[in-house]
Amino acid sequence: MSSFTTPFPASATAAEVLDGVDLTGRRYLVTGGASGLGAETVRALAGAGARVTIATRDPAAGAELTTRFPAVDSVALDLADPASVRALVAGWTGPLDGLVANAGVMALPTRRLTAQGWELQLATNFLGHSQLATGLHGALAAAGGRVTTVSSGAQLMGGVDLDDLQFERRPYDPWTAYAQSKSAVVLLAVGITRHWAADGITANALAPGWIHTNLARHLDTATMQAMGAMDAEGRLLTPPHYKTPAQGAATTVLLAASPLLAGVSGRYFEDNQEAEVVPGGTAPGSGMVADWAVDPGTADRLWEIARDAG
Ligand SMILES: NC(=O)c1ccc[n+]([C@@H]2O[C@H](COP(=O)([O-])OP(=O)(O)OC[C@H]3O[C@@H](n4cnc5c(N)ncnc54)[C@H](OP(=O)(O)O)[C@@H]3O)[C@@H](O)[C@H]2O)c1
Repeated sequence: MSSFTTPFPASATAAEVLDGVDLTGRRYLVTGGASGLGAETVRALAGAGARVTIATRDPAAGAELTTRFPAVDSVALDLADPASVRALVAGWTGPLDGLVANAGVMALPTRRLTAQGWELQLATNFLGHSQLATGLHGALAAAGGRVTTVSSGAQLMGGVDLDDLQFERRPYDPWTAYAQSKSAVVLLAVGITRHWAADGITANALAPGWIHTNLARHLDTATMQAMGAMDAEGRLLTPPHYKTPAQGAATTVLLAASPLLAGVSGRYFEDNQEAEVVPGGTAPGSGMVADWAVDPGTADRLWEIARDAG
């Protein structure tokens, strides 16, 4: 399988990727669309003419976007609560051209569980999105829709431990749990490709790069300093490899809405290009996806586990 390339450089913004693309009549659902990269994704999709629904824990948080764009609305969604996912699905009507699984939490300092006993990063980043995509399968199939999962370079740091998903038999580590959840969302795109291709649904995953957002809310000063994102006085720094939020949302809208990606499925992108598959555990860098995050057998097993979780 040859690597998929696009004309867009790493520095392209979401608006540049959709320049000249008319999304009038198209409908998208963006989780976590009220802040950070999700908000930039909503802006770019709506700016190209699409009707966009923001799914957020606090629908009032999307007010800036819903006021500015008449075709943007907001619905309540807590990905860690299956009843909330079911409620969104029950209220959804009509075809869905794109589900953007963007919401996420990173590096929760302690092991936290949902009421269903799922580790909170895996529940939020993976399971909730899997349940949402499954609930919206009919709406996606009706539009030949795309599912876009927002992963992270962290997938290189850890795969999915099918024998201990919830950290019951191994010590909890904030980054190992984040890495597992971000490998899992790549595997979700692989699973959708394997199970729903005949329904006309495609799915791809991506890493947005490094961008200052609220995602770092659980990181302490020492970690931010070690990442080069904070100086000795605790002031935010922007290292040269960091992107703006508008650049950070570019690969998301490329996968979700660009005509260039029509029919492409089961792949992982970064900096607007398909990434290279490398052995899991390779030192983090851009343009690489771990073999454990695209393994078909793991994708199938995780698919079954998510299905059985209800
Ligand atoms: N920024 C980066 O450098 C970077 C790098 C790699 C990957 N990513 C990925 O990019 C995606 C977007 O993150 P961001 O950087 O834009 O950070 P962000 O501003 O913190 O956005 C994350 C969004 O997820 C939502 N969310 C969290 N828990 C939720 C839940 N239980 N149910 C529903 N929504 C929930 C948050 O909503 P609330 O406001 O309600 O908390 C927020 O809107 C994430 O998946 C992240 O892992 C970001």
